[in-house]
Amino acid sequence: MNPDIPLQLLGGITAREFLRDYWQKKPLLIRQALPDFESPISADELAGLSLEEEVEARLVIEHGERPWELRRGPFGEDDFKNLPERDWTLLVQAVDQFVPDVAELLQHFRFLPSWRIDDVMISFATPGGGVGPHFDNYDVFLLQGQGQRRWKIGQMCDADSPLLAHADLRILANFEQTDEWVLEPGDMLYLPPRLAHYGIAEDDCMTYSVGFRAPSAAEVLTHFTDFLGQFLPDEERYSDAGTAPASDPHQIQRDSLDRLKALLAEHMGDERLLMTWFGQFMTEPRYPELVAGTELSEEELLGSLEDGAVLVRNPSARLAWSEVGEDLVLFASGQSRLLSASLRELLKLICAAEALHIDNLGQWLADDEGRNLLLELVKQGSLEFADE
Ligand code: SIN
Ligand code: CO
Repeated sequence: MNPDIPLQLLGGITAREFLRDYWQKKPLLIRQALPDFESPISADELAGLSLEEEVEARLVIEHGERPWELRRGPFGEDDFKNLPERDWTLLVQAVDQFVPDVAELLQHFRFLPSWRIDDVMISFATPGGGVGPHFDNYDVFLLQGQGQRRWKIGQMCDADSPLLAHADLRILANFEQTDEWVLEPGDMLYLPPRLAHYGIAEDDCMTYSVGFRAPSAAEVLTHFTDFLGQFLPDEERYSDAGTAPASDPHQIQRDSLDRLKALLAEHMGDERLLMTWFGQFMTEPRYPELVAGTELSEEELLGSLEDGAVLVRNPSARLAWSEVGEDLVLFASGQSRLLSASLRELLKLICAAEALHIDNLGQWLADDEGRNLLLELVKQGSLEFADE
């Protein structure tokens, strides 16, 4: 994707300009980001999804005296029959994993790393419905799918921003409005992390949230050090050969801290392990149970491909690749695989994974390492046969 081509999706600016001026910094309202956008899923279909066991769904109902009641799915048909006429929102997480037409939307966001994308959440709200003024720690693109929603934005928040006493939802006690717009289908609002926002449905409305993920510093440190720990032998310890006599045996001296810092720096600075951990972490599936895999022999794989079968990415799997020294590494749903540099084009093809078939795989099926990789990815569940 050429980052210097103006994009309708970004209101006529280029991806480069968007990343420079707005991404993670300030909001951007884009009228008709996707002109004539029609929601590929109806409110009834969304409600249908929220009945499924493996789907994460919430209902937020605004009652006068007890605002923003949260109910968690999966729901039953009766949950919807007994809802009031207005003032409620149904939110369904990761719809892209269940509805291919919704996953398609992510193609528009290829100017950002795919491993930064979390999911496409879709909300359906009746007039007056909303989840209250709040902030998220993630970037989000809010695409209006149906009906109209009034979006209000406010101040930048942080962990110290006062919240209402609410058992389930993080609702801001103070909302300092700076702007407001009514979004029509196809309009989109980009919000950087921590910006207060408040969406209220004007009529029956559907909003798509393309949400991003970024590990917290605490997650990076705890997870990476856990990962590193597995590779360190028990006998490798804090050591102080050559230490000077202590003037007071009870004092921890500065040189002890320096030794500790050197020990940390030696391991924390291991780029190979850091890249391996990061790729694994960022490709962890949201629902690992949906990346189940299947037993398959090499003959069966080749036979199916020769018969015209098509391999696609399991919509619940995440894929990314990287360079590690002279080698390449493929990250697939939390696992990593070191591969020779000659497989670069295959890795790119697999990660883009529109459709893998005998024609575009061709030469790779004759390559032992390439063929084996494909087989392992199907067995692991990151790739699967498209059912056609
Ligand atoms: C919604 O779609 O109702 C809520 C999205 C958000 O504010 O994060
Ligand atoms: Co939000």
